[in-house]
Amino acid sequence: MSATLLNGKELAAKKREQMKSKIEQLAVENITPGLAVILIGDNAASQSYVRGKQKACAEVGIYSELIERPDSITEQELLVEIDRLNEDPAIDGILVQLPIPAHISEQAVIERIAPNKDVDGFHPINIGKMMTGEKTFLPCTPYGVVEMLKEASIDLEGKHAVIVGRSNIVGKPVGQLLLNENATVTYCHSRTKDMRNLTTQADILIVAIGRPKFVTAEDVKEGAVVVDVGINRVDGKLCGDVDFDGVKEKASYLTPVPGGVGPMTITMLLENTIQSAESRK
Ligand code: GUN
Repeated sequence: MSATLLNGKELAAKKREQMKSKIEQLAVENITPGLAVILIGDNAASQSYVRGKQKACAEVGIYSELIERPDSITEQELLVEIDRLNEDPAIDGILVQLPIPAHISEQAVIERIAPNKDVDGFHPINIGKMMTGEKTFLPCTPYGVVEMLKEASIDLEGKHAVIVGRSNIVGKPVGQLLLNENATVTYCHSRTKDMRNLTTQADILIVAIGRPKFVTAEDVKEGAVVVDVGINRVDGKLCGDVDFDGVKEKASYLTPVPGGVGPMTITMLLENTIQSAESRK
């Protein structure tokens, strides 16, 4: 069997078309959604992600503002910048591109962003709301993963979802969102013993561990749905955390890299920004 590919690029394009008309409706009410992105330092990957976010904003009609600061910025200076954006009525969403330099507390920065502008869904208040299932900004990558599964009409209720990776950005929240959809969730991570015993029990396997081709066909149950959140560059070529060629012969559904989860992350950021702008009304 060869897996059906879950095409994130196509779904992202479809969602962005729908967003354009929503933004046109907001314009009638004199509302233009606005996103501020703070980029610190000259990390090439971060610069590329931020460019992608700005391009996507322009494509759908979201106003975007890029605030670039050197690595030498102090925590206090950054917090003042965030305070200013918290007060700016043209800005509905604030995103500080991670990682940030080690001398600045990531937690202090995240907690300074007004929860009602936290379109990344990283603020503890929004994480708490996500846990209780209250409507809030959902973290973009996990949100995109669930949207892809729903688009393919993959039933989640009662399914065993195994998450490989426990980052605050992807692993932990994606497990929570799947739990909210009534899946049974198991987390695996670098200290897990006999990981294969768990991954081969997964009906739905989400891989976000940041190691190229970490999950192979032997780690996957026949017919499982496999979502690869990894983006790694090996010999100049992009690859995921899943050995695509091997796993596609065993999985029922599989996300490619590139063209899978990646385009959905930015799309859900746009979605959160529009949702925030709608609450201005
Ligand atoms: N760095 C890598 N992914 C993300 C993300 O989703 N949001 C932010 N702010 N930084 C990131």
